[in-house]
Amino acid sequence: MTAPATAAAGTARGSALLRIDGLGVTLPVEGERRQVLRGVDLELGVGEAVGLVGESGSGKSMTARAVARILPPGAEVTGSISFDGTDVGGLRGAALRQYRGEVAVIFQDPRAHINPVRTIGDFMTEVLRTNRGVRQAAARSTAAALLEEVGITDGERRLRQYPHELSGGMRQRVMIASALLTEPRLLIADEPTTALDVTTQAEVMAILDQLRRERDLALLFITHDLELAGAVCDRTAVMYAGQLVEVQGSATLHDHPTHPYTAALVTARPRIEATAARLAAIPGRPLSAFEAPDGCAFATRCRYVQDRCHAEQPQLRPLREATVRCLRAEELDLSAEHLLQDAPAPGETVTEETPVEEVADE
Ligand SMILES: Nc1ncnc2c1ncn2[C@@H]1O[C@H](COP(=O)(O)OP(=O)(O)OP(=O)(O)O)[C@@H](O)[C@H]1O
Ligand code: SF4
Ligand SMILES: [Mg+2]
Repeated sequence: MTAPATAAAGTARGSALLRIDGLGVTLPVEGERRQVLRGVDLELGVGEAVGLVGESGSGKSMTARAVARILPPGAEVTGSISFDGTDVGGLRGAALRQYRGEVAVIFQDPRAHINPVRTIGDFMTEVLRTNRGVRQAAARSTAAALLEEVGITDGERRLRQYPHELSGGMRQRVMIASALLTEPRLLIADEPTTALDVTTQAEVMAILDQLRRERDLALLFITHDLELAGAVCDRTAVMYAGQLVEVQGSATLHDHPTHPYTAALVTARPRIEATAARLAAIPGRPLSAFEAPDGCAFATRCRYVQDRCHAEQPQLRPLREATVRCLRAEELDLSAEHLLQDAPAPGETVTEETPVEEVADE
């Protein structure tokens, strides 16, 4: 959408609002510590939208929760997160409450976050009344005005209703309106439309996109859907096994991925111009950070793997308009056009003995 073709990859355009440096998270599981993030580096500029894409278990939600300071109990964090120049890890008490107003989170399933026995009005006004000292009448009128902004016109009546009286799409609109109550500068939307039917998904996404543009809100948009991220976000960050493997301007990422995993996501997605035979499932299953082997985490599924990929850990580094974590990124042609012509059979591996160029000519 608004992404320039040369959007710098791992870094934000303009001044960075959010800066994540070497973020690592471990969680306690059955008496042991389990690594779920390892060395995530990402920046978001003021008003910038960044998509965070990857398969299940890759660490997208944990990244969001680390930023919002809502990690599960017992989490240990390494690296740093700063927001508008302030170290987020050091925030306590009133400063932490203030921060949680500046960074709002919308989750996938609103039902898990709205108390079913309280009215929408009580749910929406609580944060203003308890954290900001706003009086009940003023808080209700602010809430009703925000409901109108998300397309719910009879706000006063809706505030008296209970969550079960609203449709799924309506509940998610309530969540979006609630997230805006504290006038945040960063919105984190963690798969906000996954639980909705396709038509409602499109409506909710359109509202989210419009509101964040009107308010110049930065957006960290988490999704499994590379194409949706590309449609809504200036840049897209691709995550695998607790690390970012590629960050690139959305305008160029889809046609010119630089990491084999991004390329696999591109070719795994059905497209009108691709025949069914050419759609390539990504072999194997996605890994979480604690399951990642030595060397490149994607090596067990990568069709371009070589011996050295098992021994050497690739670092995130700039390449053309992207940043990428792949030892072979310079030598691979992963353009979408090339990939769709020559999609491999499921599970096919391109080894050193069968270079990419030969496979392309088969
Ligand atoms: N409370 C928890 N305790 C221990 N491990 C957890 C906890 N929550 C998540 N994990 C693990 O952390 C890893 C990253 O999980 P995360 O929820 O961030 O993945 P995700 O990318 O958001 O996946 P999905 O697309 O399924 O939502 C996974 O291995 C997951 O099993
Ligand atoms: S480093 Fe090797 S295994 Fe990892 S993505 Fe690149 S080519 Fe594939
Ligand atoms: Mg998640």
